[in-house]
Amino acid sequence: MYQHYNYWLSGLVAYCFCEVVSEQVLDIMTSPKLVKRVENLHATLHEHNYRYYVLADPVISDQDYDKLFQDLQTLEHQNPSLISTDSPTQRVGSIAKDRLFRRVTHRIPMLSLQNVFDQQALLEFDHRLKQRLQSEGIDCRVLQYVCEPKLDGVAISLFYRQGRLEQALTRGDGHAGEDITSNARTIRLIPLKLRHQGYCPGELEVRGEVYISRQGFEHLNQQMLNRNERVFANPRNATAGSLRQLDSGITAQRPLLFCAYSVGIHSTWVNAPKLHSQWLEILVELGVPVSRDYEVKQGIEACMDYYKQQLLKRTTLDHDIDGVVYKIDDLHQQQLLGSVSHAPRWAVAHKFPAEETMSIVKGVDYQVGRTGVLTPVARLKPTQIGGVTVSNATLHNIDEMQRKDVCVGDTVTIRRAGDVIPELISVSLAKRPSYSQPVPIPTTCPVCGARVVRFDKLVALRCLGGLSCKAQLKQSIQHFSSRKALNIDGLGVQLIEQLVDQQWVRNVADLYQLDKNKLASLPRMGMKSAENLLTAIEHSKQTTLTRLIYGLGIREVGEVTAELLTRHFHTLQALMQADAAYLEQLDGVGSVVAQSITSFFAEPHNQKQLTDLQKLGLVWLEENPETSPKLLQGQIWVLTGRLRTLSREQAATRLRALGASVLTQISSRVTTLVVGEAPGSKQGHAEKLGIEQINEAEFLERLVST
Ligand code: IVH
Repeated sequence: MYQHYNYWLSGLVAYCFCEVVSEQVLDIMTSPKLVKRVENLHATLHEHNYRYYVLADPVISDQDYDKLFQDLQTLEHQNPSLISTDSPTQRVGSIAKDRLFRRVTHRIPMLSLQNVFDQQALLEFDHRLKQRLQSEGIDCRVLQYVCEPKLDGVAISLFYRQGRLEQALTRGDGHAGEDITSNARTIRLIPLKLRHQGYCPGELEVRGEVYISRQGFEHLNQQMLNRNERVFANPRNATAGSLRQLDSGITAQRPLLFCAYSVGIHSTWVNAPKLHSQWLEILVELGVPVSRDYEVKQGIEACMDYYKQQLLKRTTLDHDIDGVVYKIDDLHQQQLLGSVSHAPRWAVAHKFPAEETMSIVKGVDYQVGRTGVLTPVARLKPTQIGGVTVSNATLHNIDEMQRKDVCVGDTVTIRRAGDVIPELISVSLAKRPSYSQPVPIPTTCPVCGARVVRFDKLVALRCLGGLSCKAQLKQSIQHFSSRKALNIDGLGVQLIEQLVDQQWVRNVADLYQLDKNKLASLPRMGMKSAENLLTAIEHSKQTTLTRLIYGLGIREVGEVTAELLTRHFHTLQALMQADAAYLEQLDGVGSVVAQSITSFFAEPHNQKQLTDLQKLGLVWLEENPETSPKLLQGQIWVLTGRLRTLSREQAATRLRALGASVLTQISSRVTTLVVGEAPGSKQGHAEKLGIEQINEAEFLERLVST
């Protein structure tokens, strides 16, 4: 394996690090062979990170990456003197109670940008620059600009000494920022060590934006909702909140991204760049991510073309940009132009039309989801946001609606970013009319009329109609046939609507009894499409247990849990027989999930559905045939106390990969207990039951030898 990577490294990656070996690494106790191995793993992992994040061109799978990462972790654990601060394993820090974000002065202030909103102001900006430069004796009929997207996130500064990340600061007030080094280190896109290909400045400050993609934002907010925590208003707030976590372990779990756009303090050298665009290229070579969308343009008119092009591109991007930035490319010209108090004269932000706007709430409707959850959606006076008419905005859930104090008649701020569902951000209480009405909370389902309940402590209102509620049924069918579930090609949303409305499909089993002629009679169908659909349905009959469990749409059971349940139980029968107390002990299955699984299988109509599916020819592979024999198959492991080299999650992932199940409680069925530092009561319990106990070193050894 290592051999393979050494070849790979020397063949594909024609570079080496000048300073791969840190002082600690040169421990006389460590064999040069081992040092070399760790060195190679560092280089390989850094290279893969670079290919993945900077070049967006990975050459190995995530699993292979994880394997290499774990190999390095194991070696470091066995030889702590080989751990260096820039090791790829050293990203996740811990709670730093004593480090309440120390304030640090920027050696060069982090300035802001002047804004323009229209063409006229932009022409005036360009004219001003030409006049100033001419007065300095520079001939500049056409100025050369670098055009870049203006990312909407949080500005930070990263200070590298001898190529190693030493300090990360927020912009703060521009003169001093907060020390967020531990948190910045958890961001995978931020290199801990620069790639030394040719020359790397001894001191280099990289400036750029930390941000969150729209998808990452939605996912994060969904997690917050699931935990009954407050959602973030927008990706920028989510980014700022994530960077200010005292526990960098939390920051590490946030989907933070980074993109550099300039250089601050740096040592100079003979061939130091003379253009800003050259700096951007150097940053890429050093392994720092830079926007792929920057362009060098001659004259301000060409910049305007760039603006139009980026404005069109904006909706297709997976992250927010609130405009574009034009910067004079020539660094000498930048110096001559200088700055005003808070912004450089040589750059300007050309802002896009706002993605937030005001509107009036005309009413609130409730949408019913797959699991019966009612989501309040504000009906708005139609309004334009970034060129799109918006007439609805989500309020997420009743708690959010009440927290924001939304009434019918209110003037509200709406935000729409890219393809994200427009959101109601806030209410303007000052503009609340006397005739405003509180939003009624429904007691019956707006779709099926069944009773609606609000379970204790849960924010969600839920329709009790189950699959007799058409809204729930349609979405359950959609979920069952989706790509990660039974994967029925060609069964789209509109077709499902028709099948349910015609009452041809009242449950998922009905999908397997559809009539070709009836199908062909539907609008936009025809014989050929009906045949194709039936073929796709027929193909879906051969599936896997994981797909089936996921496709059943058991509340709280996503693909990861479905996979975990398959790995542990192997058969549907075994899963259906497990009680909540047992399920709860599985690492990754909490009490809510366990309860949801047992309630699902306890329902007679769910049991009947599974029997019907089987009768109709559905077969599922109970083991994944692609997996190689697992060495810890059938074993049940529990972890207690703190491990020094791995997080609990990493240890559990590693064990599961080898086929073991990981529980959180000791019982007589447990095979092995791993005892870390400061173990809990599990150790005594295991002792009484005579369960094998091993320490961290023994554990790591087993991981390596299996
Ligand atoms: S240059 C001296 N370039 O916009 C120049 N800033 O409104 C300072 N920003 O604080 C910044 N994308 O957080 C620059 N391509 C880009 C940018 C960018 C986003 C942010 C940055 C800055 C703010 C100013």
